[in-house]
Amino acid sequence: MTATGIARAMELMDCKAVGIAPQDLAGGVDRLKEIQDQQKLNWVSVNLVEPTNKKPVFTPLIRTKAGSTRIAILGLTDDQGHPGVTREKYTIVSWKDSLPGYVKQAQEGADMIILLSSYPEPVNREIAQTIDGIHLILQSGRAASNMAPLKIRNTLLTRVAARGKYLGMMRIHWTKTGFWGQDLTKKIRKEQNKLDRINWQIGRIEKKKPASELKNNSLYTTLLTDRKHTINAIQALQKKKDAGASDPCSFTSQFIGLKSSMPDDTEVQGVIDQTTRKVNAFNKKRKRATTALPHTSLDKLAGTQKCEECHPVQVAFWKQTSHSSAWKTLEQGNQQFNDECLVCHVTLPYYDLDRAREEQLLVQLPKEFRDVGCESCHGPAAAHIKAPESNHPLLPQEKVCLQCHTDEHDDNFVYTEKRGKIACPKG
Ligand code: HEC
Ligand code: HEC
Ligand code: HEC
Ligand code: HEC
Repeated sequence: MTATGIARAMELMDCKAVGIAPQDLAGGVDRLKEIQDQQKLNWVSVNLVEPTNKKPVFTPLIRTKAGSTRIAILGLTDDQGHPGVTREKYTIVSWKDSLPGYVKQAQEGADMIILLSSYPEPVNREIAQTIDGIHLILQSGRAASNMAPLKIRNTLLTRVAARGKYLGMMRIHWTKTGFWGQDLTKKIRKEQNKLDRINWQIGRIEKKKPASELKNNSLYTTLLTDRKHTINAIQALQKKKDAGASDPCSFTSQFIGLKSSMPDDTEVQGVIDQTTRKVNAFNKKRKRATTALPHTSLDKLAGTQKCEECHPVQVAFWKQTSHSSAWKTLEQGNQQFNDECLVCHVTLPYYDLDRAREEQLLVQLPKEFRDVGCESCHGPAAAHIKAPESNHPLLPQEKVCLQCHTDEHDDNFVYTEKRGKIACPKG
C-alpha cells in the first residue's frame, strides 16, 4: 500500500526516472514491475540483475533531454554491504562490476550523465573518486537534511532530505566543455570588482600625497602590484572568452528548510492522505481482532527446537516451507536488525506483535525465536510441552495468517490456497 502511494505521488511530481533503494524491494520485484506498468514510472538500476543471465531487471539507463542537452540517467541500488546477494528473482551485484560499463555506454550520445544512487555517502564519494564521466550523483536515503553539492574531481555529489521538506532549486548551466568550473563572465566580473576596490584605495592615497612622494609607502606599492596582476588576470580571461572558449559548467543550489506547518502540494498530499487512511484502517482492523487476546511473555513460548521430539513429521515438513527461513531471508538483505521487518519474520504470537514493536523486543529476540516458527501459528506452547494432553495449542485460522500476509507484503493471499501449502501433515 505504502509503496503504491509513494509511486503515485512520484508520478504526480513528474519524475523522469526513479532509482531503486533496498526498501523499495520489500514487496519484491514483481510488485515494482506492476507499479511501473500502472503508474508509468521509470525505475532505473544497473546493478539489480536477473540471477541467471545477470541482465538488469529494470532499465539500467534512461536517456532524456533538457533543452539541447542530452542527458543519460543511471540508477544504482545499495547492496548494503552484501554484493552478490541473490533472492528468488534478483541479485544485487557490486557497483564496481556493473557501473563502469554502463557509464561508458551512457557517454555515447549524452552530454551529461546523472547517477541516482541509494548507496550511502562514503560509497558515492568512492564512486566519484574512481569512475570518470559521471557529472552528478543524486544520493537518496533517509537523511534528515539536504547536502550542499560537493565537487569531487569532475563529479558533483548532492542529496535532498527525505520527504522533500525543503523548497528550492538546483540550477545547472551545462556547456559543451562538460567540466564543472566557474563561469568566465562571472569570473571577469569578480576580478573587475576587485580592480575597482584597488583603484579606489589608490585614489584615496594619491589625494593626500603626490605619487612621486609615495615611493617608500609599502601599502601604496603593494596596491600598485595588485592592480597590475588584476589587470593581467582580466585581460587573460577576456582573451579566453574572446577566443570562443566555452564557459565551463556551473550551478547554483539554494534550498531552504520548510516549516512543517507549510501546506503540502494538495494533489500529492491527497495521495498521501489516502494511503495513510488505508494503512490506518488496516491497522485498526488488526487491533480490533487482537485486543481481546491476552499478552504472553517469552517464557510461555517453547521455541521450535522443543517440538521435534514429539512431532518430527510436522517439523520436517515445516523445514521445507519458507517460513523456516524467514529470518535468513532478512539476513541476506542485511535487514535482520530492522524491527520494521523482523515483526513478520520471527516467531511471536501474532497478538503480541504491537507490544513487541514498542518494547524493542524484536532485535533482542533469542535465536530459537527466529523465523516464522511453530508458535507463530499455534500460539505459545510451553504449557503444552509440560502436559500435552491437557494443554492443546491453537489451530490457526485465517486471521492468524493475515497478521503477516498483509496487502502490502502479500497482495495475492488466498487463504484456502495458501493454507494448503503450509498446513502441517498429520502425525
Ligand atoms: C512431549 C511431547 C510433545 C512435545 C515436546 C510437543 N507436543 Fe504437541 N502434542 C503432543 C501430543 C501427545 C499431542 C496430542 C494431544 C492430544 O491428542 O490430546 C500434541 C498435539 C499437538 C497439536 C495438535 C493440537 C490439536 O488440537 O489437534 C499441536 C498443534 C501441537 N501439538 C503443537 C506443538 C508445538 C508447536 C510444539 C513445540 C512448541 C509441541 N507441540 C511440542 C506432544 C508434544
Ligand atoms: C509471523 C508472520 C507470519 C504468519 C503468522 C504467517 N506467515 Fe506465511 N509467511 C511469512 C513470511 C515472512 C513468509 C516468507 C518467508 C521467506 O520467504 O523468507 C511467508 C511465506 C508463506 C508461504 C510461502 C511458503 C513457501 O514455502 O513458499 C505461504 C504459502 C504462507 N506463508 C502461508 C501462510 C498461512 C496460510 C498462514 C496462516 C495459517 C501464514 N502463512 C502465517 C510470515 C507469516
Ligand atoms: C507485515 C508483515 C511483514 C513485514 C513487516 C515484512 N515482511 Fe517480508 N514478507 C512477509 C510475507 C507475508 C512474505 C511472503 C509473501 C509471499 O509469500 O508472497 C514476505 C516475504 C519477504 C521476502 C521474500 C520475497 C521474495 O519475493 O522473495 C523478502 C525478501 C522480505 N519479505 C523482506 C522483507 C524486508 C526487507 C522487510 C522490511 C523492510 C519485510 N520483509 C517486512 C511479511 C512481512
Ligand atoms: C504457518 C502456520 C503454521 C506453522 C508455522 C506451523 N503449523 Fe502446524 N499446523 C498449521 C495448520 C494450518 C494445521 C492444520 C490445522 C487444522 O487441521 O485445523 C497444523 C497442524 C499441526 C498439527 C496437528 C496435526 C494433526 O495431527 O492434525 C501439529 C502437531 C502441528 N501443526 C505442529 C507444528 C509444529 C511442530 C510446527 C513447527 C515445526 C508447526 N506446526 C508449524 C499451521 C502451521
